Amino acid sequence: MAKSFKYVILGGGVSAGYAAREFANQGLKPGELAIISNEAVAPYERPALSKAYLFPESPARLPGFHVCVGSGGERLLPEWYQEKGIELILSTEIVKADLAAKSLTSAGGETFHYQTLIIATGSTVLKLTDFGVQGADAKNIFYLRDVADADKLYEAIKAKKNGKAVVVGGGYIGLELSAVLRLNNIDVTMVYPEPWCMPRLFTAGIAAFYEGYYTNKGVKIIKGTVAVGFTSDSNGEVKEVQLKDGRVLEADIVVVGVGGRPLTSLFKGQVEEEKGGIKTDAFFKTSVPDVYAVGDVATFPLKLYGELRRVEHVDHARKSAEQAVKAIKASEDGKTVEEYDYLPYFYSRSFDLSWQFYGDNVGDTVLFGDNNPESAKPKFGSYWIKDGKVVGAFLESGTPEENKAIAKVAKVQPPAESLDQLAKEGLSFASKI
Ligand code: FDA
Ligand code: NAD
Repeated sequence: MAKSFKYVILGGGVSAGYAAREFANQGLKPGELAIISNEAVAPYERPALSKAYLFPESPARLPGFHVCVGSGGERLLPEWYQEKGIELILSTEIVKADLAAKSLTSAGGETFHYQTLIIATGSTVLKLTDFGVQGADAKNIFYLRDVADADKLYEAIKAKKNGKAVVVGGGYIGLELSAVLRLNNIDVTMVYPEPWCMPRLFTAGIAAFYEGYYTNKGVKIIKGTVAVGFTSDSNGEVKEVQLKDGRVLEADIVVVGVGGRPLTSLFKGQVEEEKGGIKTDAFFKTSVPDVYAVGDVATFPLKLYGELRRVEHVDHARKSAEQAVKAIKASEDGKTVEEYDYLPYFYSRSFDLSWQFYGDNVGDTVLFGDNNPESAKPKFGSYWIKDGKVVGAFLESGTPEENKAIAKVAKVQPPAESLDQLAKEGLSFASKI
């Protein structure tokens, strides 16, 4: 039996939840909207999974972090969807999308028709088995994308009390998971190929602080090499990690965070793609009529920089979803909304640390403040300067006002007289803007 909806959101993650709230705000009739997700739970704030979900004491659990609590909004419990007449179709994997016929087919053989589709399938993790790493299918090698993954990791942390973990990857997952594993009193070694952690954002100066801080917390860091193989015991559980440089590390648990890949394969050949994502306009409309794409999968015009970008962070997932729904609703009334004008915003939290970044990390950089990892209260930041203007700003341990100030700098792009002057002024430069 086929089901038909006016609007279907494919994916039940961050974007889906914020889109549902926006539909409800704009006015929705019962039965008009369905969310189809292969997850078993209603949309939630995914960032919790690599942080409070794994805390040794009072870990966060659903329903505590359903959207939209992450941005200070109302928590949308499963009952909320029911009250609004929004159909939450959970544990349902879509395996075929026919955009010309406006239909989706699930693994269970159900068909769903829509008038308007919002693609919100997010990303999946890159796996070491994808690269043919030997033994990478051993038990207790974990990836982290959804609640089901986090539950498995949580159980392993409990089962391997005071054990050893190897964390493969020095990006967001690598840094956040190494910290939370240490909080669980696990002996942690991080391994990554680059000369410093989080190279896609951090400068050498920023990274030196985090590497020093993590080392002081007992995290061992091995740089410039990768995991090339795993051995397991007679139960099939991982025991050792072989590194390319010949070293061998003992491990009870391995956590892998070597990047993500946007889930666009269902739509291959049916919709225009760009930079690895589904190409959209400033209203998140794709090249196919009545089909929108939001969140991690969308490659959209980033107005501030005059180019197409894809952003894999939660702030954009929320805002792109709201923009798409506003645009859909406005077009039904023959109206338009303003173009999406996004200021990139990324953040992370680990141990007692918390950083925010706004803007673009291109051009020259200056480091300011106290970035000594031994300091009782380190506070430091960095500016990125391109064509004489400050285009990006990073701040560790900022107050809400200070974070607002660096966001403003990245948006306004004030001229920088000299790099030396900027380094000397530090945060006070931002506070004046
Ligand atoms: P999201 O991944 O949230 O949702 C996609 C949904 O689609 C999922 O429910 C998935 O199961 C479903 N789906 C996919 N294919 C399907 C199919 N074929 N059929 C049915 N359902 C399907 N960002 C940040 O700014 N700060 C942070 O601290 C963090 N922390 C963080 C931690 C962890 C562990 C992860 C994995 C990610 C983050 N992020 C983050 C990134 C942020 O969470 C991410 O950018 C958003 O969740 C993207 O939202 P989307 O809705 O696009 O995808
Ligand atoms: P990432 O792109 O942040 O980091 C990948 C890292 O993998 C690289 O920095 C590199 O060090 C490493 N790497 C690549 N190949 C390797 C190899 N063969 N061996 C060892 N290391 C290797 O990706 P991630 O950390 O896996 O995060 C996945 C997704 O989740 C991303 O979309 C990310 O934005 C999102 N996420 C975001 C946050 C946040 O914003 N705070 C937190 C967690 C996850």
